[in-house]
Amino acid sequence: MEDMLILAIESSCDETAAAVVRSGREVLSNVIYSQIDLHTQFGGVVPEIASRKHIEKINPVITAALAEADVPLEHIDAIAVTYGPGLVGALLVGVAEAKALAYAAHKPLIPVHHIEGHISANYIENKELEPPFLCMVVSGGHTHLVRVADYGEYEILGRTHDDAAGEAFDKVARAIGLGYPGGPKVDKLAREGNPDAIAFPRAHIAGSPLDFSFSGVKSAVLNYLNECKMKQIEINRADVAASFQKAVVDVLVDHTMQAAEMYRIDKVALAGGVASNSALREAMAGACEKRGYRFFRPSPGLCTDNAAMIGSAAYYEYLKGSRAGLDLNAIPNLKLGER
Ligand code: KG4
Ligand code: ZN
Repeated sequence: MEDMLILAIESSCDETAAAVVRSGREVLSNVIYSQIDLHTQFGGVVPEIASRKHIEKINPVITAALAEADVPLEHIDAIAVTYGPGLVGALLVGVAEAKALAYAAHKPLIPVHHIEGHISANYIENKELEPPFLCMVVSGGHTHLVRVADYGEYEILGRTHDDAAGEAFDKVARAIGLGYPGGPKVDKLAREGNPDAIAFPRAHIAGSPLDFSFSGVKSAVLNYLNECKMKQIEINRADVAASFQKAVVDVLVDHTMQAAEMYRIDKVALAGGVASNSALREAMAGACEKRGYRFFRPSPGLCTDNAAMIGSAAYYEYLKGSRAGLDLNAIPNLKLGER
C-alpha cells in the first residue's frame, strides 16, 4: 500500500512516545518524553509514577508528533499502539488513548507487540532489509534470539533463563556505584578499562545451546567486589565494567553466530536498548564480517524505546490484516508471536 500514514503510540515502560510513520519505513516525526530523571532517584522505574506521568504527557506528545510531521489527525490512516509486554498501568494509558483516538477519528486500530517494534526499528534505516533474518533482541526486560521468518512471523530460538541482558547491566552499574540507568554508564566507563582484566564466567545452559543466563555473571561481579572489599584491594571500576561487558557480549555474539550457522541465515540484526552498546555493536559487526554475513542495527536513538519502531511494525501488521476492536486490553506478559 502506497503512502500509508500511521500514528503510533508507545507507553510500555518509562517513555511516553508518539510518532508518525509513512509506509513502515519513513519516519515523519518521533517524539519521546523520557521519564528517566524522575525514576533515577529511586534507582529504577516506579510503576505507579510511570503511569501517572504517561497520563500527563501522552496528549502533548501526540500533539507534538502530529505537528512535527505536519500531518493533521484527519490525514492519518491508522492508529497503532503497544499493548504488551510491559507495565500494565503504563500500557493502559497508551491503549486507552489509542482507542479513544481511533473511535473519535474513525480510524482502524493496530495492536503492536513491543518486541516486534524493537525488531522493526531495523527497517527504518535499512530500507533494503527484508526477512528472513536473525535478530538478537536485548533490552531491559528481554533477551530473545529471534528468527524473523517473514514480516510478523517470529520463532524464538533462544531466551534468557533468568536476568535480561539490560537488567544485568543495570544491576552491575548499581553495584559499582554508577546509578540508573546503568547500561549507557557501564558502556562509557568500560572504554577506559581492560576487558581481559577479570575472568567473569560465560554461562552456557546444558541442552539449550542458544539460551542465555546472566545471573551468574552478575553474581560473579558482586562476589568479586565483596572479595576486594574484604581484602582491602582497591577496585578498578573501569576494569570491572569492561570485563563484565565483555562476558555478556561474548555470549550474545557467540549464540547469534551459532544460530546463524544452524539455521543457515546470512543476515543478522540487533535490537533493543542494549543494542546501542558500543562493544556489542563492534563485536557483532566483526563476527558477521568474518563470516560474510550482512549486519544491521538501528542507530542508538531507535534502539531504546520509541514510537517510530511501533509505527514500522504496525504497517506490516496492517498489511497482514491485524486490527483491534475497542475492547483491546493491555497484556503485560504478551508473548512474541501471540495475538
Ligand atoms: O529497550 P529498552 O529501552 O527498554 C526495554 O524495553 O526494556 O532497554 C532499556 C535497557 C536498560 O536496561 C538500559 O540499561 C539498557 O537498555 N541500555 C544499555 C545501553 N543503553 C541502554 N545497555 C548497555 N549499553 C548501552 N549503551
Ligand atoms: Zn523496549
